[in-house]
Amino acid sequence: MRARIVGTGMAVPEKILTNADIEKMVDTSDEWILTRTGIRERRMAAPDEALSDFAIPAAERALEMAGVDGSEVDLVICATISADRPFPATSCAIQNHIGAKDAPAFDLSAACTGFLYGVGMGTQFIESGRARNVVVVGGEMLTKIVDWTDRTTCVLFGDGAGAVVLQATEEERGVLAYSMHADGSLGDLIQLPGGGSRAPVSHEMIDAGLHHITMRGNETFKKAVRRLAAVSHEALEECGKEPQDVDWFIPHQANKRIIDAVGQRLAVPEGSTVVNVDRYGNTSAASVPIALDELNRSGKLEPGHTVLMTAFGSGLTWASAVVEW
Ligand code: ACO
Repeated sequence: MRARIVGTGMAVPEKILTNADIEKMVDTSDEWILTRTGIRERRMAAPDEALSDFAIPAAERALEMAGVDGSEVDLVICATISADRPFPATSCAIQNHIGAKDAPAFDLSAACTGFLYGVGMGTQFIESGRARNVVVVGGEMLTKIVDWTDRTTCVLFGDGAGAVVLQATEEERGVLAYSMHADGSLGDLIQLPGGGSRAPVSHEMIDAGLHHITMRGNETFKKAVRRLAAVSHEALEECGKEPQDVDWFIPHQANKRIIDAVGQRLAVPEGSTVVNVDRYGNTSAASVPIALDELNRSGKLEPGHTVLMTAFGSGLTWASAVVEW
């Protein structure tokens, strides 16, 4: 039994925040942001909007494309580090709304790598025969936890959600391979220091600014490129493919320079790399499924195509998956 992606969906906030808008907030420039990151604009949720307001429609769109009713879903996974609330899991709100009655649901915390970890988990449940239909959502509201006075991070992130429906198939296509890693010794590179049990919510914690994302961007950049290339080779090797077999390369949309560097290292075919970081910024766990849904709905993705997806993020975590469409 294999797991096939039979539906994709996405949802993003209406509000567009351009680099020109951010120029008015911190000491930065459109030119700096564009040349260093490739980002032109990102989406930003309204004060009264939360993750499930986007995660639910993304899941519903994926189910609609798949022709699967919510009642047929056996498992709901939501990859996120910016859930509606610390608990209960946002996946439970998705499970309730789509009508996946009594199906198990959990949130998965692997930052930007979360969606691909979720694809790995969902594939395991299907291959072991424990589930037929699995909804995997990657969604994030990072503009809610970013420090809007810190120019080194606030220019990077955006909000949104993407989703897939994984379905059991006896065909020889679907998720062919995946590879997942973590290195907790690098846990301080990107973190949200406060709000957990180490530094619980308090006036002192907030006064110290520990409720915002902190990142050592340049160190992260260097660690990302090597690991993304290595884990992609690993997943390709597992299913007997080479980089030149890749029809579509969907890397985590963190930074256009990282995307280009990894594409060059891997030597995937010219024109195969999917890029939308210019329009959404880094949407963390949502970035790969949003790019996948845009590609899918553009009509360019055809049965038999080989899709390589890869991501890295806080943890550090990194992963790749190879799918035959
Ligand atoms: N506008 C203008 N200048 C800036 C800005 C800004 N927005 N941000 C930083 N600078 C300045 C810095 O202060 C520094 O100035 P200095 O030389 O006087 O000290 C200079 O620009 C260079 O800073 P660097 O950090 O070395 O710039 P770099 O080229 O590395 O780009 C960036 C920074 C874009 C953050 C890059 O390192 C990056 O993309 N890193 C990876 C981030 C990432 O992908 N994180 C993982 C996912 S996040 C998650 O898991 C939730």
